[in-house]
Amino acid sequence: MQRLGIGLIGSGFMGRSHAIAFRAVAGIFGLETVPVLELLADINRPTAERAAKALGFARATDDWQALIADPAVGLVDITTPNTLHKPMALAAIAAGKPVYCEKPLAATAADAQEMADAAKAAGVQTFVGFNYLKNPMLALAREVILNGEIGDLVSFRGIHAEDYMTDPLNPWTWRLDPAGGHGAVADIGSHILSVARFLMGDIVEVSGQIVTVVPKRPAGPGSHELRDVLVDDQARALIRFANGATGSIEASWVAAGRKMTLAFEVTGTKGTIAFDQERMNEIQIYFTGQRRGREGFKTILSGPDHPNYRDFCPAPGHHLGFNDMKTIEVKAIIDALAGGPAFMPDFQEAARIQAAVDAIVLSARERHWVTV
Ligand SMILES: NC(=O)c1ccc[n+]([C@@H]2O[C@H](COP(=O)([O-])OP(=O)(O)OC[C@H]3O[C@@H](n4cnc5c(N)ncnc54)[C@H](O)[C@@H]3O)[C@@H](O)[C@H]2O)c1
Repeated sequence: MQRLGIGLIGSGFMGRSHAIAFRAVAGIFGLETVPVLELLADINRPTAERAAKALGFARATDDWQALIADPAVGLVDITTPNTLHKPMALAAIAAGKPVYCEKPLAATAADAQEMADAAKAAGVQTFVGFNYLKNPMLALAREVILNGEIGDLVSFRGIHAEDYMTDPLNPWTWRLDPAGGHGAVADIGSHILSVARFLMGDIVEVSGQIVTVVPKRPAGPGSHELRDVLVDDQARALIRFANGATGSIEASWVAAGRKMTLAFEVTGTKGTIAFDQERMNEIQIYFTGQRRGREGFKTILSGPDHPNYRDFCPAPGHHLGFNDMKTIEVKAIIDALAGGPAFMPDFQEAARIQAAVDAIVLSARERHWVTV
């Protein structure tokens, strides 16, 4: 049995999800390598100590550089706000340690590419947390497409809509900090772009539209001071793929009522696949050539015949959840570190996703199609 020392930076929404995954993964998948929760870093010592205790880490620190230098840390895991990804990842790469970083990888495509290049030059493995790609239902969608079961790809229609910024009194947070990159188009648009690339391949050209719906927000919780919002609340883009298919994506964090609409329709010459993350355990597939009067989509529920499901549960239709996708993601990381299949998306793939984000924003600002 091998031990992999985990150094986690950040213990918010994602830090907690990563910790749950690292704790569960070896038991669920019967891994030879067992993650050991060595060290947790956060913004100050009390926060770090509280989180370390709650999440099961042996030690806590308020110094992320000390975490990277710590000899017991074999994998640096970054779950901090976006502005911090680049300096933290570059420091980990310089120390020769593999890096697992949350999305979006960086504030700009140029920064993301710099990080990917640094990792390549140092021979360091990298992993980015586009966890929705790890859903067994997305693996099934990809398999159906690659098998040619829906024919040649014609169209992709994707959306990631949530409503966590709908209330104009929701205060300013790091998600609105332009230093961390663009707004909804980067925060959740990057997810649907990752899905578009996963299923359809390279994006070659975009025509974007971005809108700031709430121009000012309270500077902090309960504050009467208003602060300008300089990033987008919603974005749309027409897309042309390298394989000749066309499509569109939308991203919005002000979509009232939408909690987790990461949804897509992929249409080919012989059928269509439809999916919505709000019903993450099912996929709809339509095949042409059905008997007239009986045509329709069929619903396939996730089950042990789909990748990674059986490790959680032997019975179909019993449903996986959000943190299970993180556990599958972490399993793929541990496999890659042990010499197994390369992990995707790595920093290079995340840089390509970020390039599409940047192209959408540039296109919207300059009002013309932009090559990615
Ligand atoms: N993959 C997904 O589905 C998903 C979902 C949500 C967020 N994210 C991404 O995860 C990252 C974090 O988002 P979140 O929602 O967990 O944020 P969060 O605000 O809940 O947590 C951020 C954490 O980072 C800590 N932190 C801030 N500055 C720090 C510093 N200098 N040193 C150490 N720790 C510091 C904070 O104290 C907090 O614990 C973002 O990049 C976000 O885009 C991904």
